[in-house]
Amino acid sequence: METAILARHPQRNGARWSGNPANVEKAMKLIDPIVAFHAELQEIRRDIHAHPELCFEEHRTAEVVARKLEEWGIPVVRGLGGTGVLGIIRNGRSERTIGLRADMDALPVQEINTFAHKSKHSGKMHACGHDGHTAMLLGAARYLAQHRNFDGTVYLIFQPAEEGGGGAKRMMDEGLFEKYPMQAVFGMHNWPGAPVGSFGVTAGPMMASSNEFELTIRGKGSHAAQPYKGIDPIMTAVQIAQGWQTIVSRNCNPVDAAVLSITQIHAGSATNIIPDEARMIGTVRTFSTEVLDLIEQRMRDIASHTAAAFDAQVEFQFHRNYPPLINHPEQTAFAVEVMASVVGAENVDAHVEPTMGAEDFAFMLQEKPGCYVFIGNGDGAHRDGGHGAGPCNLHNPSYDFNDALLPIGATYWVRLAEAWLRVS
Ligand code: NI
Repeated sequence: METAILARHPQRNGARWSGNPANVEKAMKLIDPIVAFHAELQEIRRDIHAHPELCFEEHRTAEVVARKLEEWGIPVVRGLGGTGVLGIIRNGRSERTIGLRADMDALPVQEINTFAHKSKHSGKMHACGHDGHTAMLLGAARYLAQHRNFDGTVYLIFQPAEEGGGGAKRMMDEGLFEKYPMQAVFGMHNWPGAPVGSFGVTAGPMMASSNEFELTIRGKGSHAAQPYKGIDPIMTAVQIAQGWQTIVSRNCNPVDAAVLSITQIHAGSATNIIPDEARMIGTVRTFSTEVLDLIEQRMRDIASHTAAAFDAQVEFQFHRNYPPLINHPEQTAFAVEVMASVVGAENVDAHVEPTMGAEDFAFMLQEKPGCYVFIGNGDGAHRDGGHGAGPCNLHNPSYDFNDALLPIGATYWVRLAEAWLRVS
């Protein structure tokens, strides 16, 4: 996931769902050979954790992935989308295909954990669990290659640069779906706070679009004691900020969730000078492109008309990073059944609350039907000793992926592929 959710109030953390930890052990139907492979998967995961690499710099990680796949006899495409890796497992004669996607990149965070597998790279850390996502998909790859209880093609997508770099988009731009046609794509992210052995998902919008704006207001500088000789960009900025805050409350349909946050205002350098210029910067989050179009247009109109009223000039830049992540209903129902077969229906919440975080798997879901799910990462107790005493939240410097998830996530991937490519 691209954006930190560091809520102080877990119940307001988005994506809340119920799981029943007491029943998890009983309900869980893990694949034995994957469970037997758990220690090795953990070793791979911790090795990747110790060697984090940022967006499009995942050279070592990609090589670890590609070599493992080759070791298990899986054909590999290297360098797709910069540092992306694609593994291809074919079996039988069916034309059916499925894409399973994991992300590989780390974050520019200084890790404060002190356990043995802590980051060896200063200022870089796997603080979002992409090390675990990579290891879970590797576990599935090994099983699928060795057991082959499916008819069709499994594409294993190891993508770079999820954290703001749009690695999914870059793989697509370099022909991922044209060269390797997939009927559907599936993604998965760990979710701290939700019990181990639980899954959460929802059909339709599940994560928000992420967008940035920057407004420059040009006035006319003057002495602060003679404001009538200038055009005050600060007053203009204040008026625009007020106007913008009416967009969500007065222009958007109240049933459409949206956030417009101004996070920076920069202007001025002294107590006795009215500056020439002011700048306002911030972010907009929405669950649909229509709402986003509306907000961007209203921001533009309010900024230019307000500035005109004050004789100021504005330059408005609006940059769309990631689109909203929208799960396709049919594939979501399919994924829910598979998750229930792995951990029991009572441990799958098929209607989790959407989160305002963003995720570049959204690009893939714009082109292909599919579904993105959350897998519970537990309450943080797995970090026995050596963790930095901070919360086990995504993007927190004392976060760590929970290795107990490895066989659960890998089993989900395998069952999903086997069900999609069912042998008839
Ligand atoms: Ni993430």
